[in-house]
Amino acid sequence: MGEMQGMRRDGTDSAPDWSRREFDLAEWMDGPCSYEEYARAALDLERVNRLTLGYRPALRFLARVAERTGSAPLHVVDVGCGHGDGLRTIYRWAARKKVPLRLTGVDINPYAAQLARECDRRAGVAAGSIAWITANAFEAELAAPVDAAISSLFAHHLTDTAIVALLRWNEATARVGWLVNDLRRSRRAAMGFK
Ligand SMILES: C[S@@+](CC[C@H](N)C(=O)[O-])C[C@H]1O[C@@H](n2cnc3c(N)ncnc32)[C@H](O)[C@@H]1O
Repeated sequence: MGEMQGMRRDGTDSAPDWSRREFDLAEWMDGPCSYEEYARAALDLERVNRLTLGYRPALRFLARVAERTGSAPLHVVDVGCGHGDGLRTIYRWAARKKVPLRLTGVDINPYAAQLARECDRRAGVAAGSIAWITANAFEAELAAPVDAAISSLFAHHLTDTAIVALLRWNEATARVGWLVNDLRRSRRAAMGFK
């Protein structure tokens, strides 16, 4: 994927060890960048999500969660939501299927919520239908108990230790279930998503 073309933190550019989950590559999105750069990366990821049918696992998962919980509105939190294309897709799916949902997106980068609101306006999603929060996911103050926690293309931003924290947070926070959907790093994927 595009964001994998980072430089090693030590400034060298020797080939990464693809057999390891974590290596010392900085994610460009997480570094200092302009709003325009963040927006370009986020919209590029939206194309990747569409091309790779990346929304399907979350929709399948939420269908199962909704079956299990009945008619009460489910609170779904998307961790590392970026500009919210995943939650907007879920919002439209829920409207079609008449599944009552309360949706919250959390992202540490303030550009994410700014762009999410802009995209809501463009997509005709009424302001406030999805709550956008700027916070470190593990410290976010959520307005209501969480039924389902989902994340997409987020886990690879984390160190191995932080991944364990994410799984613990999911377990402790999500009353019904959680889903981590992420890429698997490989040389082929890096070539394909330059
Ligand atoms: C690759 S983007 C994925 C965006 C979106 N979920 C998608 O599927 O396209 C990863 C996002 O995680 C966010 N992020 C990284 N660390 C975070 C943290 N500790 N808490 C919340 N968001 C974080 C980044 O700001 C970035 O927007």
